[in-house]
Amino acid sequence: MVLTPSVQGSEAGGHNHASVALFSLLPAIVDAVAPLPVIAAGGIADGRGVAAALALGAEAVCVGTRLVASSEASAHEEYKRRIVAAGAADIVRTCLFGREWPDQPMRVIRNRVVAEWAGKDDRTPSAAHPPQIIGQTLMGGQPYPMQKFSAVLPTPDTSGDFEEMCLAAGESAGLVKEVKPAATIVREMMAEAEGVIGGSLQGMIGPPEAKRSHVN
Ligand SMILES: Cc1cc2nc3c(=O)[nH]c(=O)nc-3n(C[C@H](O)[C@H](O)[C@H](O)COP(=O)(O)O)c2cc1C
Repeated sequence: MVLTPSVQGSEAGGHNHASVALFSLLPAIVDAVAPLPVIAAGGIADGRGVAAALALGAEAVCVGTRLVASSEASAHEEYKRRIVAAGAADIVRTCLFGREWPDQPMRVIRNRVVAEWAGKDDRTPSAAHPPQIIGQTLMGGQPYPMQKFSAVLPTPDTSGDFEEMCLAAGESAGLVKEVKPAATIVREMMAEAEGVIGGSLQGMIGPPEAKRSHVN
């Protein structure tokens, strides 16, 4: 069995305990666990991010937020629309959502409930009695009333108030411009990474002759 550590930077979407961004964390972990291969996660939504992660020593990347905004993702269309609309500064880390698993830091898109609780969100607030229901969804095919501060993410089966829901996403939402099929996203991402590595980066060091004459 080959163990492949995954390194998640603080910009990543969803549950996130990291306090350091991927750019600083990844090379340190690569050095610490060498020769084990490392998977990089956090903030990667296009080929430039893939190329950067490979340059920092990763062998592979893990992409979350970009693929939530894919045609195939079982995320509600309004959730996908909000990822596309979000800029990096619309993403915050909060422990607000956790009716099911309290006090876990998550990166989410700021909506009304997140804005209302800013500065008071280092723990999940206690449940109201009677419970305050902000939406309905299905869990395992069964109806599931979503209580206020539920961490359950909206799927196509969800209805309710999106200003009250947990909309997990990382800072890379700022790079997501449209919902596309997952295969297109991955193909474009890898083609762009190849273009960056073999094109613009290669161009910076120039052809071998130019490099030699510069050194001489
Ligand atoms: C909607 C969503 C749900 C996630 N759920 C989990 C999870 O249940 N467990 C986990 O370890 N990571 C989870 N993650 C984190 C991803 O595995 C990954 O580390 C992260 O998405 C990478 O950063 P990015 O979102 O900037 O691409 C989730 C991420 C997103 C966006």
